[in-house]
Amino acid sequence: MRLTFILPLATLAKVSSASFAVDPNAMVLHESVTAIPVGFAQVDTISPNDEITLRIALVQSDIIGLQEKTYAVSHPANALYGQHLTTAEVAEFVNPPPATVSAISTWLAAHGLTPKSVSTFDDFLQITLPVGKANTLLAADFRTFTHVASGTRSVRTLSYALPAALKAHIRFVHPTVAFVPPLRVPGVAAVKVNPTRRSEAVEPRASIPASCAFDTGPSCLQAVFGIPSAKANNSASNVLGVAGYIDQFANTQDLTNFLRNERPDLVGSTFSLQTIDGGTNDQSIFNAGIEADLDTQYTIGVASGVPVSFISVGDDSQDGVSGFIDIVNSILTMPAEQRPTVLTTSYGFNEQDLPASLAVAVCDAYMSLGAVGISAIFASGDGGVGGVQSTTCTTFVPTAPSGCPFVTSVGGTTNVPPHAAALFSSGGFSNYFPTPSYQAADVAAYLGSIGTLYDGLYNRSGRGFPDVSAASHNILIWWQNSGDLVDGTSCASPIFASMIALVNDRLIGAGKPVLGFLNPFLYSPTGRAAFTDVISGHNPGCNTDGFSALAGWDPLTGLGTPNFDGLLKAVGL
Ligand SMILES: *[C@@H]1O[C@H](CO)[C@@H](O)[C@H](O)[C@H]1NC(C)=O
Ligand SMILES: *[C@@H]1O[C@H](CO)[C@@H](O)[C@H](O)[C@H]1NC(C)=O
Repeated sequence: MRLTFILPLATLAKVSSASFAVDPNAMVLHESVTAIPVGFAQVDTISPNDEITLRIALVQSDIIGLQEKTYAVSHPANALYGQHLTTAEVAEFVNPPPATVSAISTWLAAHGLTPKSVSTFDDFLQITLPVGKANTLLAADFRTFTHVASGTRSVRTLSYALPAALKAHIRFVHPTVAFVPPLRVPGVAAVKVNPTRRSEAVEPRASIPASCAFDTGPSCLQAVFGIPSAKANNSASNVLGVAGYIDQFANTQDLTNFLRNERPDLVGSTFSLQTIDGGTNDQSIFNAGIEADLDTQYTIGVASGVPVSFISVGDDSQDGVSGFIDIVNSILTMPAEQRPTVLTTSYGFNEQDLPASLAVAVCDAYMSLGAVGISAIFASGDGGVGGVQSTTCTTFVPTAPSGCPFVTSVGGTTNVPPHAAALFSSGGFSNYFPTPSYQAADVAAYLGSIGTLYDGLYNRSGRGFPDVSAASHNILIWWQNSGDLVDGTSCASPIFASMIALVNDRLIGAGKPVLGFLNPFLYSPTGRAAFTDVISGHNPGCNTDGFSALAGWDPLTGLGTPNFDGLLKAVGL
């Protein structure tokens, strides 16, 4: 999908014949796509009386200031390390300036519209209005489109404009030009097994821990990554959040079966439920979601004794992407003692399917989480260099939000040491976010070692991901009353998030701040020492062999696989 951000003069002339320099009401093109994006088709025009709900993203007071502050409190070498901000302090950076608020209210009031704020920081306003009126307000042409493969319908426009006087106050209006394929259940394979008769499942191997002989469960992960089985002692203020989307429901019966077999000492542990955007958590066994079951089982069963909150995000936000911002708002409005210290998400998008403006807004949201001391951890995707899922592609497809420098992206490896990169482990370089300084030397070293290989297929100046990796193959879960072995970076994210939650438990016990935004720490000399470099494997896609795992950081396994004692040492415990 091609987006135009710099307005070409010819288009400007088409939108308005008046000179916007003198006429503040002249409509100036704000965002557009040159054609209906591949995979979508126009179905129909839409009645001007049908209602549409739009979100207006306002310019914030000082987002660069928040970036600097977030780096300062997250870098172990900085005097402010660990001094996370309060939500009120974040608001000072993110709230729109008064001039912006008044310009927007005046504009909307003149059209008889009363917006409601849908963000903690009032930087997102929502309006519901007839399509005909939206077309006038934004010089748009809203129509009904369908995502052909899924049949999902959406109302979008190929371009929209804003009054010249408001351009400096509005980041973007959404959903307008964002044609985002619906989220799909991640994961690449599921094989039914009988966990109580493991010897029939997979051939045992003598060279690996006995607990890993047939599949990968919590005891194998404990052996491989040094994860303790002792229960966390500081549960009151250390919740591990698990994000759920697309009606993936976490089932308590599956959880109980899983714990009985894999963690009998934890039977009785369960998750608390939080719902936003109309989310639910249906407990019928036939509606148990494979991803939600995996994510809850590999947090509750790995982060022993850490309270887990399953946050089910419904589709009231209507467009798939806003839920990734709404979950952040919902967490930021919780009392500080109740909100998670770690949030794991195993869902994502192909970066190119999000307009840059929207990808930046999602990234800003997760930066706010980092600023207040919450680690945002994402699966890198399961399509190798081809994106979240394998797809046809002519250039490599980075994933979102992994390309955001303020999240920690987790790639996938095989299940036992010496770990190799999993073939599906997504990784590469963002086209929207430049290489952040914390990884600049690592990215330069990797690019130096591959020379001109794949020149033109990826962005040499982009943020490289993933940051770390963990086991993603033959992970044993209970789903809809039976055992399954699953693969995918969806496994790696909750496993790594659980390790961070357990480190946070020890930090709280020692009277220290929790880790928050992880990357500056992970890439620091002490942080990286907690990882075992992964030096074999590759991640094919787009008719190539993909990148190779090499000595040092690489764009399929990051810094490598974590070691729990190494992490404790790195934080000085
Ligand atoms: C919690 O405290 C008990 C008793 O002091 C200890 O044995 C256990 O290892 C602690 N758990 C963790 C995760 O530190
Ligand atoms: C590559 O990344 C840089 C840094 O984010 C960006 O400015 C540039 O537009 C990207 N190039 C392409 C072709 O997307």
